[in-house]
Amino acid sequence: MPSVAENFRAWNDEWPEERGGDEWTGQADFCGQPYEEWKRSLAERFISPFAAPGRSVLEIGPGHGRWTRILGASGAKISLVDISPRCLRTCERFLGPALGRAVLGDGSSFPGIPPGSVDFAWSFDCFVHMELDVLSANLREVRRVLKVGGIAVIHHPGRWPAGLALARRLAGRLPRLATLLSMGYPRIDSGWRGWVTAGSFRRAARDAGLRVVSSHRRWGPDDRFTVAKYRDWISVLERPAPHGPGTRHP
Ligand SMILES: C[S@@+](CC[C@H](N)C(=O)[O-])C[C@H]1O[C@@H](n2cnc3c(N)ncnc32)[C@H](O)[C@@H]1O
Repeated sequence: MPSVAENFRAWNDEWPEERGGDEWTGQADFCGQPYEEWKRSLAERFISPFAAPGRSVLEIGPGHGRWTRILGASGAKISLVDISPRCLRTCERFLGPALGRAVLGDGSSFPGIPPGSVDFAWSFDCFVHMELDVLSANLREVRRVLKVGGIAVIHHPGRWPAGLALARRLAGRLPRLATLLSMGYPRIDSGWRGWVTAGSFRRAARDAGLRVVSSHRRWGPDDRFTVAKYRDWISVLERPAPHGPGTRHP
């Protein structure tokens, strides 16, 4: 849980398109910030430095396009990969001439995106819903399609390590204890995250041949914005030159 098939059902068949893609306001609500401010700051910190005219951008899991609209306005060429035809159709409609390729994926690969063709890969609220095998396959694809020196910014899970996960599962068998825990620890609500720790994400990135430039839970003035709900992270990854140090990125 959650499998690719369950993701397909949730995002293609069940989740309604509302508010131009801005349905997922939970992270901003959690940090007590107005949603628009949280979103603008996130885009300034993690999208604007990398999406610019003449660049080739790939968004993985665009949904109904809340980030796709921002990417499209950057002057870059935007390609999309998603398992949901409905989400792709929605985003194709408003991207217009900014659209590169829109490809229907199988959940683990980016068919039709040529190797070494992407300057910047972006994904928010998509890898958090993958289990480690699927997430690792997607990171290998990110490495394949990035140019040398290209950057990926990926929002991903940072779940508890296995021992704590086991404790949680045992707690789930004891309804009263689970109730008490869930009263004291709202994060017991899993947010439908894959069981992937921050460490296993970073290992999977390195195994895929990517350099982990930095990982963030907070950003903005006084670190006021966060993706700490459900213990998430945003990591900046780079496809390094085959031999030699990586370049410096924000
Ligand atoms: C919760 S929505 C988030 C949409 C958008 N990124 C946002 O932040 O508003 C998850 C999106 O990821 C897509 N998705 C889920 N699993 C995927 C996978 N394994 N490969 C590609 N897309 C996937 C879903 O179809 C959906 O478009």
